[in-house]
Amino acid sequence: MKSTITRGEAVAIWEEYITKPHLKLHMRESEIIMRKLAAHLGADPEQWGITGLLHDLDMEKVEDDYSKHGYETVNILKSKGYDIPEMFAAIVAHAEGVNDAKRTTKLDYILAASESVTGIISAYVMILPNKNLSGANVKSIKKRMKQARFAAAVNRDFIRDIEKADLDLDTFLQLAIEAMQEISDELGM
Ligand SMILES: [Fe+2]
Repeated sequence: MKSTITRGEAVAIWEEYITKPHLKLHMRESEIIMRKLAAHLGADPEQWGITGLLHDLDMEKVEDDYSKHGYETVNILKSKGYDIPEMFAAIVAHAEGVNDAKRTTKLDYILAASESVTGIISAYVMILPNKNLSGANVKSIKKRMKQARFAAAVNRDFIRDIEKADLDLDTFLQLAIEAMQEISDELGM
């Protein structure tokens, strides 16, 4: 079993299992935010980025049985010959509340916050007149986070729990917005 995965290998698996464009974008957004946070925190941008890229790998496979969400991703990656415990634990734990896992490590909190914040940022951009990421800022995103009915499916607690990974919310939101802005052409917003 391999204990690391290259981005090229990860992209090939991602292309194999994910067909829906909105899901691809969400996973790329998660990747780019995770890379940015790793660089900021002195972790490995490649492995954290891949954790973001692959975190929803099983979404089209589990269909409506979300109790398997995360676990199926681990099964897929193990069947491909990978065993990367820290990455796998974070992928399973990001589905806390829908599966039976709990977030415990810094990486768990960081992945859950990163993949959740993509939902608030992209929903916010969609209500802007020019629908462009250049119009997003920390203040506006925090304001929308407080409105429960705005992007209601997004778990605010997961975003606020970034503080359990020793990163303050404002810094996290700033880095997340900047990360998405860096690939705005690809995201089409
Ligand atoms: Fe996700």
